[in-house]
Amino acid sequence: MDYLRIVGGNPLRGRLVISGAKNAALPLLCVPLLTEEKITFSNMPCLKDITTMTKILFELGCEIHFSSQEYAKAPFGQVMTIQCSQVKHSEAQYDLIRQMRAGMLVLGPLLARHGFAKVSLPGGCAIGARPVDIHLDAMRALGADIELENGYIIAKAPQGLKGTHIPLRFASVGATEHILMTAVLAKGTTTITNAAREPEIIDLADCLNKMGAKISGAGTDKITIDGVDKLHGATHAVMYDRIEAGTYMIAAAMTGGDLTLEGAVIADNEALVERMRHAGIHIDILSDTSLRVLSQQTNHFKATDIETQPFPAFATDLQAQFMALMCLSDGVSMVDENIFENRFMHVPELMRMGASITIKGSTAHIKGIDHFTGANVMATDLRASSSLILAALNATGETNIHRLYHLDRGYECIEEKLRFCGAVAERIKGE
Ligand code: EPZ
Repeated sequence: MDYLRIVGGNPLRGRLVISGAKNAALPLLCVPLLTEEKITFSNMPCLKDITTMTKILFELGCEIHFSSQEYAKAPFGQVMTIQCSQVKHSEAQYDLIRQMRAGMLVLGPLLARHGFAKVSLPGGCAIGARPVDIHLDAMRALGADIELENGYIIAKAPQGLKGTHIPLRFASVGATEHILMTAVLAKGTTTITNAAREPEIIDLADCLNKMGAKISGAGTDKITIDGVDKLHGATHAVMYDRIEAGTYMIAAAMTGGDLTLEGAVIADNEALVERMRHAGIHIDILSDTSLRVLSQQTNHFKATDIETQPFPAFATDLQAQFMALMCLSDGVSMVDENIFENRFMHVPELMRMGASITIKGSTAHIKGIDHFTGANVMATDLRASSSLILAALNATGETNIHRLYHLDRGYECIEEKLRFCGAVAERIKGE
């Protein structure tokens, strides 16, 4: 198995371009199922999860072409054209969905366009049980008949779907996206209240509206979708990845660096910027989509508490990374994880690198240390693996991060980007 070898101590300096957002791209890749016309995406990140989603689409009968870089908005990413003139069948198999649970989002578009879908239940993952009850209740509210059989969701709507009011019990990102991609072809109007407000929801609504949908209120907690009969083709650039941007912002701080990030959309990371500034880190806002992190230190940051909540509060996907930063504070910080029930798996690995952390329920208490020390560590999930990289960049000595497949799901060209701004990082091919 490949592993990442990092020798810590180098400040990250220079300029990095942020890639397209995994968590925007995954729902966007489902929208070609809603039309027989072509959809072209640019700034599509080259990630394992994207490959898995394209396999699911291919299995369903979509034609997928990767175009040259000429249209790409950024030096990274790819241009992808997808056309689903007719599906081979409306089934998404377990072996692909278990690799990438967002694949389950094909259910609504298949149901909306063909009146039938059979999609594997995604099951849980390392960070939690991740039920999909909110998704299925919403499909039922739109008039679908939903049955669970042998680990599969069987969804039927032979008479089509009917717009309705859907109050969400929790502002679920995936469920909000799923309803958007389903109600666009329902008869009548659908309103979602307590909708998730994440930027990825706005990106999805923008793309659907380019295809002829009538969605208003995306980015607020009340979204209205007026159903239409048909959707047409469109071209859409995937939004920049706010979690990747936040990860590199923290990397610059922890290494005493001076890093400019192009594609770091300030409006998408206001909670992080506020907490990093509270910790004493200098952040220059250069434009709406670029910023500079300047750090004269690699420790003694001001102890700063965070609690994860739905957007615009502090993102759960940046919790592990911010915890690594707080391991280098001048006091005791608290990290409260309110979204997922098992999202502290990076803690034992950070402690093997010298961190001093105790967990009480959903709260981690972090006592600052001077620096991390290199070690052999193991990634357990996507964002945990990035927190180990941050610790390794700060550490004295060498760190080897194993089970890299977690990391490859969500960070495009990470070792190249790190080396580009001065880190000693290389992927060692495993036997
Ligand atoms: C999306 O997951 C992201 N994934 C996650 O990023 C992110 O952590 C999460 O939103 C929260 O921001 C993608 O966009 C592909 P949720 P999603 O539905 O949609 C519970 C990463 O590292 N819930 O908002 O699955 C659920 O158990 C990944 O990039 C139900 O109970 O998140 C969780 O506790 C990790 N029933 C909470 O809501 C449901 O039907 C948040 O889930 C759905 C969710």
